[in-house]
Amino acid sequence: MNTIIYKINKGKIDDKYIKKAGEYLKEGKLVSFPTETVYGLGADGLNERAVSNIYKAKGRPSDNPLILHVSKKEDVEKLVENISDIARICIDKFWPGPLTLIFKKSTLIPNIITGGLDTVAIRMPSNEIANKIIEAANTPIAAPSANTSGRPSPTSARHVEEDLLGKVDMIIDGGICDIGLESTVLDTTGKYPVILRPGKITKEELESFFPKVLEDKSILNPKEAPKSPGQKYTHYSPKAKMYLFLGSDEKVARSINKKLTKFKDKKVGILGTDENKDRYNLDGVMFISLGKKKDYDSIAKNLFKSLRKFDSENIEFILSEGFEDSELGNAIMNRMVKASGGNIIYVNEVMED
Ligand code: TXA
Ligand code: MG
Repeated sequence: MNTIIYKINKGKIDDKYIKKAGEYLKEGKLVSFPTETVYGLGADGLNERAVSNIYKAKGRPSDNPLILHVSKKEDVEKLVENISDIARICIDKFWPGPLTLIFKKSTLIPNIITGGLDTVAIRMPSNEIANKIIEAANTPIAAPSANTSGRPSPTSARHVEEDLLGKVDMIIDGGICDIGLESTVLDTTGKYPVILRPGKITKEELESFFPKVLEDKSILNPKEAPKSPGQKYTHYSPKAKMYLFLGSDEKVARSINKKLTKFKDKKVGILGTDENKDRYNLDGVMFISLGKKKDYDSIAKNLFKSLRKFDSENIEFILSEGFEDSELGNAIMNRMVKASGGNIIYVNEVMED
């Protein structure tokens, strides 16, 4: 399949390309476009054939449901059975933005969207290009992250090309995604809101509107069975084997340096932070900084890009610093734990020899 690529400048959006993307979606074609979180792989969410092509292009298991994207708050109404008070507050306070809400679905929603569940995930993105494309298509747009299933999500059009060139009809290049991690997924159907996937909208932020916010147990524990179907699959994985080191900066650096001596003949990359760079023995080792240790926005924005960079350099082992799992750090650590396949080294417990 021939993939057309159009570049749209965020500051000066060319409606000609928006219109073209809308037409493609309406015709049942696949269009990848930027959102504020990551790039999405869009199709008409009410067209079953188009949606089935999403699963094919990504190589995604069919029991992993998709998020529907709308361009107006009112568009939710016909897609859901009812809007709970929790959902109403979230729509009011956080849309448009990086918060996906789970509702009881209406009969309009094809089964292929929800993987047979009786609920549906919906969000309204704040990225203006995304919003205009959805509006032009005039239908809810199903859009998972535009990566091959299991790979780190794409935060630039280049990443989408790496995975999906020749497999989608159009890629809209709208620059680098502001946030860099996927939306927070929140179940709004119960007595309390439940975070199924942590993201930019944090538990702490939600707690200023709700007396109690629950979290799915599997978020930071790879052994727990997740409630959100997609969370059970291997995710965000670089080709390299990744080790995640947790503990004080000094001990992490010491453990990483020790590991480096074991991997002497291998291609090794260190994923770290500005402050700690000088602690590592970087002779013959590739180092990528995610930013400053406390600058979670920068770390989130750079994480997937860095994992893909290691892949493009054929790195075999990634040794990574970890982060505190409060606020946005929680979403960062959720992705890192999965990217490492649960390969975590707690350095404070490592015996010194
Ligand atoms: O930021 C994002 O959410 C991006 C952009 C493109 O909008 N999209 C995205 O989609 O991350 P995807 O398909 O990669 O992840 C959707 C997540 C999966 O973990 C899936 O299991 C969960 O949402 N999900 C979808 N429908 C659900 C449902 N009815 N109940 C529980 N989880 C659901
Ligand atoms: Mg995804």
